[in-house]
Amino acid sequence: MTSKNMETKLVTAGRKPRFLQGSVNPVIQRASSLVFESVQQKKHATANRAKGELFYGRRGTLTHFALQDAMCELEGGAGCYLYPCGAAAVSNSILAFVESGDHVLMTGAAYEPTQDFCNIVLKDMGISTTYYDPSVGENIAELVQDNTKVVFLESPSSVTMEVQDIPGIVKAIRAINEEIIIMIDNTWAAGILFPALEYGIDISIQAGTKYIIGHSDAMLGTAVSNERCWDRLRERSYLMGQMVDADTAYVASRGLRTMGIRLAQHEKASIEVARWLADRPEVAVVNHPALPSCKGHEFYVRDFKGCNGLFSFVLNKKLSQEELELYLDNFKHFSMAYSWGGFESLILANQPEELNAIRPANPVDFEGTLIRIHVGLENVGDLIEDLEAGFDRIYK
Ligand SMILES: Cc1ncc(COP(=O)(O)O)c(C=O)c1O
Repeated sequence: MTSKNMETKLVTAGRKPRFLQGSVNPVIQRASSLVFESVQQKKHATANRAKGELFYGRRGTLTHFALQDAMCELEGGAGCYLYPCGAAAVSNSILAFVESGDHVLMTGAAYEPTQDFCNIVLKDMGISTTYYDPSVGENIAELVQDNTKVVFLESPSSVTMEVQDIPGIVKAIRAINEEIIIMIDNTWAAGILFPALEYGIDISIQAGTKYIIGHSDAMLGTAVSNERCWDRLRERSYLMGQMVDADTAYVASRGLRTMGIRLAQHEKASIEVARWLADRPEVAVVNHPALPSCKGHEFYVRDFKGCNGLFSFVLNKKLSQEELELYLDNFKHFSMAYSWGGFESLILANQPEELNAIRPANPVDFEGTLIRIHVGLENVGDLIEDLEAGFDRIYK
């Protein structure tokens, strides 16, 4: 480790001479076949194929090893598995630790496809899921069953942004059964704004598609594991054929170098926009973890090292279809897209009943239209002007 400071770590992580071969960035080693020069070398590579020796493309090349090494340093893990997207990281991490008859405890405000995976794939495999309220805290203990194998957190929640009492949840689970594997979808924190493994979580998952890649041009999933889960996570994911191409691994390593300053700018700008929204008469509530109006704000203040550009707010009325189109179709700087974490600003709207349909276990407590925005790296004044014009379209 070169420094305890995150800014420096983001610059240096994974840049070992073996991966760089004289350049500043890791080499792009595109390979399926990795050629052995002797029987002895093949034997050595085979014996150490899970320990960073070049063996066969699916186990990774120097480009992958550099990214895995960097992720382990940044998130304090024993190993990092790379997946083709965040959804693959979520599903394969869960699959590695459950079998028929097991039970999963899942946050009821998880990213929708994560819930779908539980409701469809796990259900078909005979694995049951109980959804918990994101405000559950230590009371999660009451939901643990004898067959609970995995507890899966996501904090802040997708779309509604509730921040969870993670230390309380971890403490309660560990007090009941040390063997339960606790995982978190740590995408919002980009793995570094909330150091999950330091809080006793076993596996920290990210859609690297968001802030690691940072430019909306590639997809990646990462799962950083502690020592006790690493062998099983790695071998099960490998058997499921999970892997990512060298070019994506390369752009992910490159993304890390600027991720700190990008996040700092997203944070500054999103707080400015959120405070402006909080003062607007059209807005009922702002769900930004850094603002006291967000559910679980106190846990954000206690546990997180910072925030990013993604948050939501609720309008004081429910928009008609016509108003919705007038509002969303005419922004200059906010595009409509299902993703976030890139350099650009994005916007999406959800009606309360749409949210309730995708999170039946946790119905929302508001009646207005929810707007989720990702504040990008544009000038904040331009963004506020754009949002103000949006209000004018639907309130005048
Ligand atoms: C919180 C969260 N987790 C996981 C994912 C899935 O990532 P991917 O689209 O890379 O599969 C997303 C994507 O939007 C997400 O927002």
